[in-house]
Amino acid sequence: MRHLLALTCLLASPALAQLPEPVAQLPGAGRPVDVEAYRERRARLSERVGDGIVLVPAAARRDMEAHVLQDGDFRQDDYFFYLTGVETPEAWLLMVAVGGATQSATLYLPPTNPHAVRWTGLQLGPGPDAERLTGIERVAPLDLDSLDRAVMVATMRSAAPLYTVMYAGTTDNERVRRWMTSGRDVRNVVPLMDSLRVVKDALGLTALRTAVDITTEAVMAAMRAVRPGMYERQLEAVIEYTFRDRGADRLGFPSIVGSGPNSVILHYDVNRRQMEAGDLVVMDVGAEYGQYTADVSRTIPVTGRFTERQKAIYDLVLGTQQAVIKAVKPGMTVGDLERLARQYMSEHSGALCGPQSCTRHFVHGLSHWLGMRVHDVGDYRMPLEPGMVLTIEPGIYLSDENLGVRIEDDILVTEHGAEVLSAGVPRTTEDIERLIQSAVQPQATGSR
Ligand code: GLY
Ligand code: MN
Repeated sequence: MRHLLALTCLLASPALAQLPEPVAQLPGAGRPVDVEAYRERRARLSERVGDGIVLVPAAARRDMEAHVLQDGDFRQDDYFFYLTGVETPEAWLLMVAVGGATQSATLYLPPTNPHAVRWTGLQLGPGPDAERLTGIERVAPLDLDSLDRAVMVATMRSAAPLYTVMYAGTTDNERVRRWMTSGRDVRNVVPLMDSLRVVKDALGLTALRTAVDITTEAVMAAMRAVRPGMYERQLEAVIEYTFRDRGADRLGFPSIVGSGPNSVILHYDVNRRQMEAGDLVVMDVGAEYGQYTADVSRTIPVTGRFTERQKAIYDLVLGTQQAVIKAVKPGMTVGDLERLARQYMSEHSGALCGPQSCTRHFVHGLSHWLGMRVHDVGDYRMPLEPGMVLTIEPGIYLSDENLGVRIEDDILVTEHGAEVLSAGVPRTTEDIERLIQSAVQPQATGSR
């Protein structure tokens, strides 16, 4: 009951995330498509393709029984979504690029099936509205034989290669596999699309900012709710409740809420331990919105007060993170940032971790690209450019002391430096202590 009260307080919070305004509602699943922004994305892919046919399938529908789904809803394929914004399962996009321009684009949508509508609701299907709502010139009812014929005609007419989606040289789509073994010039569109995805456009950045804002609220809600005796899963519940309440579509990845001995386990997501006074708890979480995910970590004391030892380790991690964030600018590489982080931590370790530097307890990488995936696509050797988004997340994990600290923010590379998208989440020990202590702390409930 008390826990419910805490959730009710969250509901009343005035700082509701500002969700982008709908343009025109799609039937059934799916948000309105910003048709100009998606046309621009297809145009940029055509520039990269030059002359070629591009064939991109949507994700397959999944069945609750056959695929034993626990908590995974349908999620569109990232490449298909990137080019269309359409969330209909089992659709296809066929594009023809000539001389670096999109000559034609056809969206194949499965015909509306009244039986499926009964079970899973209305999806965007072929019909007079679909062209207007998606901004794709031609929307045809999907029939795989006519799709095959259209691909064949397009490849014969232009004698250009066929670009399609192959993950690591293969694919799980039967149709695509058949094209790969057809003896035609079939190439992988993934590297071309990854080079687009790694630099965020305005559309992607708006979704990403929304995901980060929702995550910011959720982590702050967890800081207000934490108290000794609470279970990790209850903190997870506050975070995930806030995600959905503020408009998140789903989790970007399983929420990590690791306290005490679990704070040193990098990807601990069991979240069943009861937290005790004196513990630190590492929360590493991300809401997904519009198919883009945030990824934010904070480490907080369960009592609302860091011990001297915890504060010393925390401040070394924070100092490292801030030194790196200050250094971010176009032209640097992720490798440069990694070296800088380790150098800073090493030079400032003193005797904190014994005779050796604390860097030997910094046991994961500093950064990864962030976008449609939490560990997003992109070549890590690329020099940073404005529009790239990466995490900066140093950590120190002292297993002997059950003391783990990770601080992670989401960083947008700008023309002259960086913008911390997750700047709204408290990160100094003082600010974290103040927020935790400012909250009324009811007793824990639940005993399992
Ligand atoms: N948020 C989990 C990770 O970056 O690995
Ligand atoms: Mn991360």
